[in-house]
Amino acid sequence: MSAFAAKLNQIGKALLFITEFAQDLYYYTKYCGVSPFQIARKRVYYKIIIETHAIEKGLSLASPRMLFGRQKIPAIMRQIRWYGIESNDMPIRMATGALETYLAIHRTAGIDDPLLDDIHSFLKERTSVSAAPGSGGLRHFANGLPQQHSTSASLLESRFSCRMFSSQPLDLETLERIVELAQTAPSQCNRQATKIHYYNKPETITALLQLQAGSSGFSEAVTGLVVVAFDLAAWGGAQQRNQGYVDASLFAMNFMVAAHALGAASCPLNLAVRHTTERQIKRLGGIPDDQRLVMMIALGLPAPGALKAAASPRQPVTEVLRVVGGVASV
Ligand SMILES: Cc1cc2nc3c(=O)[nH]c(=O)nc-3n(C[C@H](O)[C@H](O)[C@H](O)COP(=O)(O)O)c2cc1C
Repeated sequence: MSAFAAKLNQIGKALLFITEFAQDLYYYTKYCGVSPFQIARKRVYYKIIIETHAIEKGLSLASPRMLFGRQKIPAIMRQIRWYGIESNDMPIRMATGALETYLAIHRTAGIDDPLLDDIHSFLKERTSVSAAPGSGGLRHFANGLPQQHSTSASLLESRFSCRMFSSQPLDLETLERIVELAQTAPSQCNRQATKIHYYNKPETITALLQLQAGSSGFSEAVTGLVVVAFDLAAWGGAQQRNQGYVDASLFAMNFMVAAHALGAASCPLNLAVRHTTERQIKRLGGIPDDQRLVMMIALGLPAPGALKAAASPRQPVTEVLRVVGGVASV
């Protein structure tokens, strides 16, 4: 290749950074859940799940605050009426189950409130149009974290996001073993660019969790906090701009399953934050600037005794799996 052609090639590759990132912007703004260009029913489908999960999470805390979700619950019921109260789609069944549990817990506590009457009327209306049981609410683990996993399937099926931790932190030896097991995760070209930053000092955990939105109600119970990050140096070219997130997410999933296998409790925590916050977390956590942050994970020993967790029901397989039979025509 001549020097001129090589230069042109270089310029072309550099321009890709602009055109590819610009197309990310296009797709995200056009199709995300707040875009007016997205189908309204699809937006509401996810909105109901997200809002209902906040209710399930509130119920799953060690001591739920009574009558929490005063704004969210009427909004969920409104959205369901808009979507179709007779529908048996997963979000509707999830919300029905969560509202049933919410109502039952409050009635058992002897609480009376117009919000509870509204939920009662809503659930009566729902029962009159559908016999399908609710699927959301709580999962109960009377004997604590399941310790015996006779099959790999049961190990996977029994993992859950645990928000109830023991005050005794996880020992570093187990943490190292979890990381070692998590390292069995595949990575592109075996790059292994994922980094695990672990914090166990209460002040640092508190300060880091204050920069994360999603741990209120149980942040005080967190005795160990992981920040999952990846090294940008492992990646090059515009086409690879998201690949660090892919590798790090596979690593994180392996990490949580490994933790579960070794009797540790974990809860993934989102880092859907702005760049300013990401930089603050890096500064506070001593994370180099050339790493990008993917997520946090609360990690510890499970609280002693019985545990409960948000039900987080799954969609039917038919909604997830699309089998394309035969040979595709090109
Ligand atoms: C990337 C990611 C971010 C999450 N962020 C939070 C969070 O901020 N707070 C929280 O309590 N749970 C969080 N979760 C946990 C989910 O709510 C949970 O995985 C989901 O409801 C499924 O439940 P399960 O993990 O018990 O199977 C997060 C999960 C993932 C994968």
